[in-house]
Amino acid sequence: MRVLLIGSGGREHALASSLAADPAVDQLIAAPGNPGIAEVAELRPVTATDPQAVAALAVEVAADLVVVGPEAPLVAGVTDAVRAKGIACFGPSGAAAVLEGSKSFAKDVMAAAGVPTARAVTCRSADEVAAALDAFGTPYVVKNDGLAAGKGVVVTDDRAAALAHADSCGQVVVEEYLAGPEVSLFVVTDGTAAVPLLPAQDFKRVSVGDTGPNTGGMGAYAPLPWAPPDLVDQVMAEVVHPTLAEMRHRGTPFAGLLYVGLAVTAAGPRVIEFNARFGDPETQVVLALLETPLAGLLHAAATGTLADHPPLRWRDGAAVTVVLASAGYPAAARTGDVITGDAISGAGQAGISHAGTAHDATGQLVSAGGRVLSATGVGADLADARDAAYRLLAGVDLPGGHFRTDIALAAAEGRITLP
Ligand code: AMP
Ligand code: GLY
Repeated sequence: MRVLLIGSGGREHALASSLAADPAVDQLIAAPGNPGIAEVAELRPVTATDPQAVAALAVEVAADLVVVGPEAPLVAGVTDAVRAKGIACFGPSGAAAVLEGSKSFAKDVMAAAGVPTARAVTCRSADEVAAALDAFGTPYVVKNDGLAAGKGVVVTDDRAAALAHADSCGQVVVEEYLAGPEVSLFVVTDGTAAVPLLPAQDFKRVSVGDTGPNTGGMGAYAPLPWAPPDLVDQVMAEVVHPTLAEMRHRGTPFAGLLYVGLAVTAAGPRVIEFNARFGDPETQVVLALLETPLAGLLHAAATGTLADHPPLRWRDGAAVTVVLASAGYPAAARTGDVITGDAISGAGQAGISHAGTAHDATGQLVSAGGRVLSATGVGADLADARDAAYRLLAGVDLPGGHFRTDIALAAAEGRITLP
């Protein structure tokens, strides 16, 4: 099978590594990719958000399967253009990707499908925002209605900060605060059949102890030793299948990766958000534990044959990934710092997923974005996997770089409790 992967982040590096390891894949092409992905795939330039350009590339390389990683190309309709060429494509249509592209659309689908989520109101004026803040009380949750790369949400007790965020966004969704540990559950679906992957937990705040502003994600781990044993079954029954049925009913079936972001509250799991693609950096840990070949799974979802796919196989143990971010991230990431160390060259780089990296004019590896790379460790349990991830990260040097030292720590120490 010849596979074309679209994207250039840490998630795509993890996807590329898994796709390249699938014996059914004899050629892997990534566009535009990054220096880490170049180790496992042939890179081609492309504007990932240009549907016709991606479709033309898929035809040119005679792809049997196109896998679209990030949300922006999905929302732009890249999968529609690829499918119009008769090529199998993993990822929702542009119309279905609105489940991630618009928070108010997602709320509307959830309401119609009876999916448990935070009560919310969409606000278009400062007066509406002020009234909604008063109605829900603290902590205030204010979300940009459109795509914001994981940084459009402010959760704060500070009313002035909540109002200021709303003012900077235009249309916002103000919602009830959900108290409880968060879960990222990825579900592979062909629109009808749906297969959950292992639940993972992400760390959204930039600093130790869940402090500082939200980011795209500073680390993740899987599995979740503290999760209720029936959590995945419950989410499939109460969230995933009703949502897929509602999307089919609307004539815009959702096929691809449904990312369910949840809080496990005292009243049960509640949806915080849907995404239309794999999460980053959760993908790094989930795929590190997946033994089933990835290309076959994604091809089955892309071709409507997921019901015939064998059950997934997982390796025992746990995985932890830690993101190394550049100086200034998330407010204003500095780029152009030279990255050195044993863990980014030769055989040492297994477990490193490049995200914001590039080669400069002299061929040195430099930082080129906010989240620069992530280091993933696997082990017998979370403590082992943490050790492996932090040991790997110790082999990378990035001037001004910062990372959280407490990824998966509370879970490893058994300190996560359900409300
Ligand atoms: P989102 O982009 O919707 O996933 O929001 C980013 C982060 O903000 C989430 O991962 C949560 O940590 C937090 N958040 C969003 N909505 C809520 C909510 N209703 N209650 C509590 N925390 C929330
Ligand atoms: N890690 C959160 C996300 O991918 O949206």
